[in-house]
Amino acid sequence: MSQQNSSLNNSPLTTVSKDGAIKRVNEERLLTSAETVTKMRAPTAPLKIQTNTLNIYYGANHAIKSVSMPIPEKQVTALMGPSGCGKSTFLKSLNRMLDIIPDTHISGEVLFDNKNVYAHGIDVVELRQRLGMVFQRPNPFPKSIFENVAYGLKIMGGFSRSEIADRVETSLRGAALWDEVQNRLNQSALGLSGGQQQRLCIARALAVAPEVLLMDEPASALDPIATLKIEDLIHELRQQYTIVIVTHNLQQATRVSQYTGFFLTGALIEFGPTADVFEHSLDERTYDFIMGRFG
Ligand SMILES: Nc1ncnc2c1ncn2[C@@H]1O[C@H](COP(=O)(O)OP(=O)(O)O)[C@@H](O)[C@H]1O
Ligand SMILES: [Mg+2]
Repeated sequence: MSQQNSSLNNSPLTTVSKDGAIKRVNEERLLTSAETVTKMRAPTAPLKIQTNTLNIYYGANHAIKSVSMPIPEKQVTALMGPSGCGKSTFLKSLNRMLDIIPDTHISGEVLFDNKNVYAHGIDVVELRQRLGMVFQRPNPFPKSIFENVAYGLKIMGGFSRSEIADRVETSLRGAALWDEVQNRLNQSALGLSGGQQQRLCIARALAVAPEVLLMDEPASALDPIATLKIEDLIHELRQQYTIVIVTHNLQQATRVSQYTGFFLTGALIEFGPTADVFEHSLDERTYDFIMGRFG
C-alpha cells in the first residue's frame, strides 16, 4: 500500500521537481492558444441555464472570455480547470453574485429559464433565492443550528413558526444532516464538524426552495469521509435540483457529474457529457489536463 503510494507520488507526471520544465512548456503553449471555439457536445436534456457569449472583466482583467455554455436541468454539471481560470467567476455570474464586486463588467447573456438574469427589472434577491450558493469553506453564522437554516425564511418573511420548523426539518433531512443534529438544534452551528457545517450550509440553501445549487469546491476543505458524504448528497439532490459544481478534483468530477465544462484562462475549451469529455476528449488541452500534464 505505502509502496504503491510512493510510486504514484514519484511518477513523472506528479513529481514537481522532475516535471517542472515539461509543465512550463505545456502551459505556455496552452495559454497562448486559449481563446478558441468551444468543442461542444450539446446536451440532450432540457436546459435550465444557457450563457451566450458571456464576457466578464475585473477592471482590465478579462476573466471570462466569450463563454457560451448550456447547463441541463436536474443534472450535475462540473466545472474544471486549473486555478485562476475563471471557474468561480463564471459560477458567481449565474446568480449575479458578481454585482457586489466593484469594477466588474459583464457583457453577453445568462439565460435562466430562458430569461436573461442581467435584463432590466430582474429582482436580484429573488434570483439568488432561486439559485442558491454553497462556498468552498463552510460559513455557518454564529447562531444555532436551527437559526442557520431558518435564516433565509425569516428574511423572506410570511412563514408561521410551525412552517419554519417544518422547513428547517425538511431541509436538514434533504442535506442528510437531520439524524445527526435533531437533538441539538438549539446549539451553536460552530460546534459541528467541518463536514457537518458544510451540510448545514447546504440545508440553509435548500430552506428557501431554490431550483439551482451553485457549489464552489464544496468538499475541498473536508476530509475524505466528509467528502464522500457530500458527494452522496449531491447524487440525491440531483433528483430535485440543477447543480453546478466547481471542482479541481478530476476524480470528483467523474464521480458526481453528468456533464463537464473545461475552462482554461477564462475560455470554455470543451463541454460535454462527463464520460465523453474524460474518455474521448475533443481538445488536446482537455486531454493533457486530464492526464495531469498541467494544472
Ligand atoms: N474579486 C476579484 N477582483 C479582481 N480579480 C479577480 C477577483 N476574483 C477573481 N479575480 C481574477 O479573475 C481570474 C479568475 O479567477 P477565479 O474565477 O477565482 O478562478 P478559479 O475559480 O478558476 O480559480 C483570476 O485572474 C483572478 O485573479
Ligand atoms: Mg475558484
